[in-house]
Formats: sequence, C-alpha cells, structure tokens
Amino acid sequence: MASHVLTSVAWPYANGPRHIGHVSGFGVPSDVFSRYMRMSGHNVLMVSGTDEHGTPISVQAEAEGVTARQLADKYNDVITHDLQGLGLSYDLFTRTTTRNHYRVVQELFSALYKNGYVVPKTTMGAISPSTGRTLPDRYIEGTCPICGYDSARGDQCDNCGNQLDPVDLINPRSRINGETPKFVETEHFFLDLPALSGSLEKWLGTKTEWRPNVLRFSHNLLADLKPRAITRDLDWGVPIPLDGWRDQSMKRIYVWFDAVIGYLSASIEWARRTGDPEAWKQWWLDPDAEGYYFMGKDNIVFHSVIWPAILLGQNGQGDHGGEVGPFGTLNLPSEIVSSEFLTMSGSKFSTSRGQVIYVGDFLRDFGPDALRYFIAVAGPENQDTDFTWSEFVRRTNFELANEWGNLVNRSVSMAHRQVGAIPEANDQRDADHDLLSLSGRAFDEVGALLRRSRFKQAMTESMRVVTAANRYLSDQEPWKLKDDPVRRDTVLHTALQVVSDANTLLTPFLPHAAQKVHEALGRDGVWAAQPEIRTVSEEDGPDYPVLMGEYASEQAEWKSTPITPGAPLQKPTPLFPKLDESLGDTGPDWARLD
Ligand code: MF3
Ligand code: ZN
Repeated sequence: MASHVLTSVAWPYANGPRHIGHVSGFGVPSDVFSRYMRMSGHNVLMVSGTDEHGTPISVQAEAEGVTARQLADKYNDVITHDLQGLGLSYDLFTRTTTRNHYRVVQELFSALYKNGYVVPKTTMGAISPSTGRTLPDRYIEGTCPICGYDSARGDQCDNCGNQLDPVDLINPRSRINGETPKFVETEHFFLDLPALSGSLEKWLGTKTEWRPNVLRFSHNLLADLKPRAITRDLDWGVPIPLDGWRDQSMKRIYVWFDAVIGYLSASIEWARRTGDPEAWKQWWLDPDAEGYYFMGKDNIVFHSVIWPAILLGQNGQGDHGGEVGPFGTLNLPSEIVSSEFLTMSGSKFSTSRGQVIYVGDFLRDFGPDALRYFIAVAGPENQDTDFTWSEFVRRTNFELANEWGNLVNRSVSMAHRQVGAIPEANDQRDADHDLLSLSGRAFDEVGALLRRSRFKQAMTESMRVVTAANRYLSDQEPWKLKDDPVRRDTVLHTALQVVSDANTLLTPFLPHAAQKVHEALGRDGVWAAQPEIRTVSEEDGPDYPVLMGEYASEQAEWKSTPITPGAPLQKPTPLFPKLDESLGDTGPDWARLD
C-alpha cells in the first residue's frame, strides 16, 4: 500500500450545529481510517473544513437576520469545537472562505475553461413572480422527472439521488410561498461532463473494491451524463474569474464546485502552514499516493463524478484534450467510502421537527468515545440505521463498560493491589501462549479490515480479543493464587499484555480511552494524539480557528508493544461510567420530544 494516503473528509455546511447523523457519515469513519493508517506507518494527510457558500448559508443567514459571513463565522466556530471534542484528527480543518481557497478555485475554473471543459450557455433560471428575485434551486420543489417522487428539490431528488435541473421538475412550486416560479433566460457556465465521460468510465472501471452501493450508484450516474451548471444567480460565493463576469454581483461559482476543490486548497494551505509549501504535492502528484473520500450517501455524485471530472479537465484528460493545468497532473480518488443515513424513529434527523441530537449536547453528557463506539458498531455503514437511546445505553453498558472497561479495570487493579507494578512473565504455559497468539494475530486481521473501511467487522474482531481475555481471567482465577505468587504474576502479566494489545487494536476507535489505558499500564507520553484548535490568519485577512495536530509524534503503532515488568501501577479509575438504565427509555431531557 502507498506510503502517502490522503484522507478527504466531506465538508460540513456552516449553517447550523452538526448532529450525530452528520458525524456518523463523514466524521468517525474517516478518523478511524486515518488513525489506523498512521499507526501502520503511512503518511496521512487528513483535510476538510466548513462549507460556507451557497444557498444553504444565505437562506439560514436570512432566517437568523445576519449576513452570510456572520452566519458562517458563527457555525464554523461551533463545528470546529464539536469536531475537536470528538477527537477527529484532521491535519487541517479549515473553511471555504479563505483567500487561499478562492484563489485555488478560480485557478481550477480558469484551467477548465481554457481546456474547453467549462463553457458558457444561456439557460432558464427561476425567479419568484411576486418578488422578482431569483429562486435558488433547492427552494423549488416538484415531481422528479426521473423517478416520479413528488417532493424532489430543484437541485437533487432525495428519493432517487439524481441531480436535477429545476426547469425539468414537473409541477414546480416555490418552497418559500408555494407560487409557481417563472423561468427566464440567464447565462451560466457549464461543466462539459459528456466530454469527460469516456475518461470517467475508464477510471471507474478500474475500481472493483469499493462498497457495492457506491459502485452501483456511480456506474448508473455515468450512464447518462449531461452538462451541469457550475455557476448560480447568487451574491454569496466565489466570483467567476473571467473578464465581464468577475464584478457581477449576482453571479457566483456554484457551492458544490467550490467545496470539492477544498480538498486540494486545504492540502495547499496545510503545506504552507507547516512550513513546506510544496509538501502537498506528495499526496496529489505522486501516482503511488492514494486518496480516500468519506461522506454520507447524499454526497456520492459530487465525489464519484463531479470532482473526478474537474480533476480530469484540469489535467487535460478528456475528449477535448488540453494542457496540464497549473497544479500539475492531479491524482483522482482511489476510493469513495460512503455511509448510509443514521435515522431516528425511522426518519431522517430533522432540525425543523426538533428531531435531532446535536454533537455538542451529546459530547457534554457522554463524552466522545461512547459516541465513536456506537457509530462504529451500530452506525449506518451499509444500510440506513435507526438511533435509539436504549441501544446506545445497552452498547455502552454491556459492551464498552462491562467487557472492555471491566477487563482493564480488574487486571490493572489486581496487579496494582497485589504487586504494585507490572508483574514478571515467569514461565508461561499453553493457556497463556494461546491468548497471546490470538491477540497477536488480530493485528493483521483487524488491519486488513480497517484499510478497507470495514469498521463493524474490525470492531467485532477486536472485541473478540477482549472477550477471550475476560474468559482467560475467569478460567485462571488469579485472585485465588495468593499462595502461588509466581503463577499469579504470570497470569496477571499475560492479561496486562493482552490489555495492551487490545488497547492498540481499539485505538483508532477509542483514542481518548486508549490514552488512559496507556497511562494505566504505567506508561507516559502521548499514545494517541488529539486535534488542537489554533487561531490563524492570512495576510490582511481576518483570524479564524483551524484544527491541526502533532500526530507524527504520537507513540501508537499497529503492533504488539511489550509491557515493562516493574513499571509502577496506580489504582485505575473506571474507563466508561455506566449509564442509568432509565436513560434508555426516555433519552436525556434535552433530547425529549414533546
Ligand atoms: N456541505 C456538504 C454537505 O454537508 C458536503 C460538501 S463535501 C465537499 O452535504 F466535498 F463538497 F466539500
Ligand atoms: Zn427522483
């Protein structure tokens, strides 16, 4: 496997706080993957930021009575704190309103234009007959011309997932006031997808290992590609970098075109911030580097079609040929990893119906690792999955606390009480060797699953080691070996070594707990590094918060690390406090629906 691995994480909209459904799609999976990849010796670059343009931001700004920029500032801050609290190990989590991002987006736009993959075209745009203002695509609703779903949005159908043009909707109506929009001529730039479809087919044809849902969906999209508008009649977004367009206040680059380019612009920003402005090229220009993209399923089309098309056009690799653009020949994605949806009582999380669990609330009451664990074992990896409080309580109490927390607690407590330090191994017997070889083998097995983003299976295999260690302790009964301290020490040593191994296996999932277990085993220093919030600025631009981290200095490595006999042990504190069973019936007060 490549030594340079880019982890590209979908950019959350800065139009409100994020809920646990969002982070189950893009957040936790991408972080588990990145942490494992770093531990197994890869140079990982994990980038993202808040997505701050387009109608989602303008409309919410209007609702809150602030400017788009003020709204973006506010939620960029909230989201940055939430993702930091969850321990998502971004090398850079930035935002799309930076000067750097504007510049990279405009250069890519111009390169595509030069190569003939971006072309102007007169089309029909919707305006509200009563106000005369343009009606954003997603504020138009109607029947989907493809699947017949009766509340498709102007930009996308949530039922069949296809991208739409509002003018193609059957019975279009404004979602703001119900009136029928008027369509008038307007000029826009289009991405010439048909000219890129041959190259896209060829690229996608080499991908056989992707999750089947993503592969099937992407092949279907390629079967019917039309030119897509990549500018909008809107005053909030990146200006069009062409003479005659640059200064038009109501023409902007489409938010999805600018957001996907964020993966590249954030990599460039990261390189500059870490003191080697050329460093991004190792992930983008070296053909051996790999790029993994993490998102919820409603984002697939933008990552498996639109973004690769932009890259191919910049590279001059479509039917019109063209020159290699200013960034060099850029790598296309290696894999698109998409989750399904986390639902609540069978339907999508909905802010307007108050049916929503915000990340910030959840972290405050339950901490990051309980949520990370739940998403990894019970999240929507392969199918839409319902969140229930009773399942959350059951998983936390019976798996995290009883199985893993208890194994750590009883083995460290016994060794602390009876020896005061990590005991000697002495002569190990078959039962000891069997357990150690089980945990030793798990590194390859779990590793193979993690590099393919098979998180549930990886967790199941890791927990098998924990279960075996608990069984070993019940069988060996070290608490009954007071009269045979030599054998007692061997059993406790073996148990603690397996605690150390299991902790390594669980580190990508439970990095906060892993740090505590590392310390409980008498070790010091940073085992699993966490992201930090730093305040940065650009030349004569405003300050903004970013997430970055010192991940290269962490100790965690994907292998069995021998424990050190004689290292002093302290009395351990519980890793995962148990939750009150009644929480399972009602959820916390703040999450109760009246
Ligand atoms: N903001 C989008 C969403 O929340 C995701 C953008 S991903 C990007 O659905 F690649 F376009 F940045
Ligand atoms: Zn549809």
